[in-house]
Amino acid sequence: MSRNELEQLAETLLSVIRKRSGQPHDIRKLSASLKATNTDIASAAGVLADWEYRIKKRKSSITFVSAPDSLIDTEIRHGLKTRIIGKSMVCYQSVQSTNDIAAELAGRGAEHGAIVTADQQTKGRGRLGRTWYSPPGTGIYVSVLLRPRFTPDRAPGLAIMTAVALADAISEYLPGEVQIKWPNDVWINGRKTAGILTELSAEQGRIHYVVIGVGINVNQGVGNFPEDIRPIATSLRRALKRKVRRVDLLHTFLLNLEKAYAAYEKSGLKSMHRKVRAYSALIGEEITVRTGRHETRGRAVDIDLDGRLILEVEGRREAVTAGEVTVVRTKSS
Ligand code: BTN
Repeated sequence: MSRNELEQLAETLLSVIRKRSGQPHDIRKLSASLKATNTDIASAAGVLADWEYRIKKRKSSITFVSAPDSLIDTEIRHGLKTRIIGKSMVCYQSVQSTNDIAAELAGRGAEHGAIVTADQQTKGRGRLGRTWYSPPGTGIYVSVLLRPRFTPDRAPGLAIMTAVALADAISEYLPGEVQIKWPNDVWINGRKTAGILTELSAEQGRIHYVVIGVGINVNQGVGNFPEDIRPIATSLRRALKRKVRRVDLLHTFLLNLEKAYAAYEKSGLKSMHRKVRAYSALIGEEITVRTGRHETRGRAVDIDLDGRLILEVEGRREAVTAGEVTVVRTKSS
């Protein structure tokens, strides 16, 4: 049996034994139903153990014990309830940047909704030329390829749309503790736990594709962050004081994103506008927004239906499309 065939058998075996987790499956019965020899079944169970599934192997039986928290495609596919996002997926152990891979795939004609995930990134990219710290085994690094049918002027709102899908997913673990820092950071207790990097390829009124890259700090401990970001970064694990299964969080986020995108295609941010405001960490705050060399100071009063931040500057209202925000003074100070 070739390696490929063995891996396919391992996948089929997994789908059978995980249906009755904790209960022994007779190897002879498995061989008969999967049309394989007992030795093949034992080797396939060995493959599953290599993939870090916990399997109890006895002479005549195999028992599924538990699945790893790995971002491998078998695990991501299992229990993913989306119809479009993630229908096609490529999952890596380690890559430079999932956004780069997604853009490459887009250039080769990959379909709307394709995703790229990695357990680790060696050159994870953040906004404004920054790096995104992407150590193995702890975070989620995922890029989603979209091929919107709308015009490029509607693209800026996609970051906020994604932030809402992400904030909703994280709120399932930490209700009431999640905020969005416009335009694309998700905070827990005032510290950054996730970031979004939206990259667009477009020409003359037409979008070729958009790559939405999302990095989530899930199971990092305090000491896992490099010193320079330690005071401003956090993870779900730090806030919850327990680990979170990354695959479960990814499933929830992708399903939220699929629903949010369907709504966005129809009517922009309209249906999620209440959430955009409720999650906002900035509304009501005195802030500065830096766009290139230009800096504006004012009070953030709203986020409009196009995802622009509305500032009150000396009694006038100004809409800001992009920029780096710093909170000057909090409401309570
Ligand atoms: C930011 O907050 O500056 C955005 C961070 C975006 C990080 C994600 S991780 C997956 C994808 N691949 C990248 O190289 N960057 C994004």
